[in-house]
Amino acid sequence: MSEYTFGDSDLAARRLALLAATFARSTRQFLLTRARPAPEFAIDLGCGPGYTTELIRATVGPTRLLGVDSSPAFVAAAAKRIADDRTRLLCADALDLPLEVTDADLIFARMLLGHLGDPFAAIDLWRGRLSERGRLLIEEVDSIETEDATLSAYLDLQREMLAANGQTLEVGARLGEGQVTALLVPAPVAARMFAMNFETWRRRPEVTGSHALEDLNALATGLERIAQGEAEAPAISWRLRQLVLSA
Ligand SMILES: C[S@@+](CC[C@H](N)C(=O)[O-])C[C@H]1O[C@@H](n2cnc3c(N)ncnc32)[C@H](O)[C@@H]1O
Repeated sequence: MSEYTFGDSDLAARRLALLAATFARSTRQFLLTRARPAPEFAIDLGCGPGYTTELIRATVGPTRLLGVDSSPAFVAAAAKRIADDRTRLLCADALDLPLEVTDADLIFARMLLGHLGDPFAAIDLWRGRLSERGRLLIEEVDSIETEDATLSAYLDLQREMLAANGQTLEVGARLGEGQVTALLVPAPVAARMFAMNFETWRRRPEVTGSHALEDLNALATGLERIAQGEAEAPAISWRLRQLVLSA
């Protein structure tokens, strides 16, 4: 299984809560307009602490819903928040799903493909788990653009760290199909998500090996200042690619 470079600590879970709040509207709209309503069986791949699983439950209302994540901590957090007899959580590799996880009317994956080595192989695999009329809905980062030097430096470093692990931040741009939805994220919100994420991976050897500690500290301070509103920065332009595929 490829390593999930953003970690599954409490801090990582809190970042995913902020991410969920930031992207809830576009994901809700995507699910409402592109998933068939009331499917018999739906799967949320890379469900994390369950925010996307909750959105699926609220928007499409499947009879059976399965959230899958490779992190035991996230699966436990999701199970704690989503307690109902229609929803099951499973700790498993999305690239090595148990055979019985099949015949799904909806498979949804948000911000998972970028963490997998070969997104196209993953898509092929997931399509094979759809029912005859099933749909695979994918939502991935297409681009993140900013004019601010600190936010831009963070994004470059993140791209570099992910590339060192065979992963891609803007994997949506590689997919080349589907629709792109754009949103503006206020700089303090983006900086807060970035600062939380930076804290989880800034000590990795592939980062510390090629960047001086004082530069990393300066970046953390810069992000914190924007997050606190002490330094001004323009809103960040975030584009998400939304794909709908069939079996
Ligand atoms: C960026 S988070 C997205 C979480 C959720 N989909 C959301 O949008 O709120 C990516 C999630 O994928 C999970 N993950 C990474 N690689 C995985 C794999 N090979 N199989 C299953 N889950 C994986 C991570 O543990 C993490 O919870």
